[in-house]
Amino acid sequence: MTPGPSNEGDPNEGPPNQASPAESASRGGPQSPKIRIRDLYKSFGTKHVLSGMDLDVGAGESVVVIGGSGSGKSVTLKCVLGLLQPEEGSIQVDGEEVVGLGGESLELVRRKFGMLFQNAALFDSLTVWQNVAFGLIQGQGMARRQAREIAFDRLTAVGLEAEVGNMWPAELSGGMRKRVGLARAIATSPDIIFFDEPTTGLDPIMGDVIDELIVKCVRELGATALSITHDMASARKISDRIAMLYDGRIIWAGPTAEIDRSNNPYVDQFIHGRAEGPIASMVNA
Ligand SMILES: Nc1ncnc2c1ncn2[C@@H]1O[C@H](COP(=O)(O)OP(=O)(O)OP(=O)(O)O)[C@@H](O)[C@H]1O
Ligand SMILES: [Mg+2]
Repeated sequence: MTPGPSNEGDPNEGPPNQASPAESASRGGPQSPKIRIRDLYKSFGTKHVLSGMDLDVGAGESVVVIGGSGSGKSVTLKCVLGLLQPEEGSIQVDGEEVVGLGGESLELVRRKFGMLFQNAALFDSLTVWQNVAFGLIQGQGMARRQAREIAFDRLTAVGLEAEVGNMWPAELSGGMRKRVGLARAIATSPDIIFFDEPTTGLDPIMGDVIDELIVKCVRELGATALSITHDMASARKISDRIAMLYDGRIIWAGPTAEIDRSNNPYVDQFIHGRAEGPIASMVNA
């Protein structure tokens, strides 16, 4: 990734990003990113959540943003989806500015996205297949019968039996809900898929199954994926690149294979889950 000006250059500003601009460029950051976030600011009252965040996601790339609870990962996704309005900064999708978009223009951009929400967020009043078909029927105006066919096809793709399609969300286990959420995220064959904590709340084996499904579905669709998680096993499995969000900014980004030699004390502490380190000392300060 090529971090923008606000995240680099001044070693006294924020936590240290060990990569020089030249090093970052040589990591092969995308030239014309699918998603380009620059200098993003988002606050709630006096709470500054994002303070100059930059991130690029290249076409066909799978990028995972890691960061502690409350660091602003979900807020970032919501800004990209146009569900939250940042105070400052730019978010481009396929070169089009989405900050400030509304109405039909925003709807058109949103059609490029599939989304697996943090808690799978299924509609309890709809059956499983109706949940999966929702975007096809409501968003694209597809005929119900055709949408139903696609929904059952997607349920098979995520390893669910056909009868699950007629069940209600309340009847599903956590792992099944995630699968249904994934089937819904891929139902419209989106260009870009967002995954918010895809494995949270699952046992490690089911988490791994979901991760494998994510990799398979993203590859089959040729989609670009932006995921957020604090599950490092999941992050390693599903990403080409990892970016760490801390104190409102991306403090490190690089190929997944390089995260163990980031030389960044914040990243090291986070990926090893240590209580002691610069993150704890900030919390205790
Ligand atoms: N709509 C909102 N109104 C007020 N504060 C909000 C709102 N949405 C998020 N926040 C605050 O912004 C901060 C970041 O929230 P966010 O949901 O992005 O965290 P996160 O990194 O996704 O954490 P987690 O890993 O726990 O999901 C939190 O302090 C949260 O309370
Ligand atoms: Mg979150």
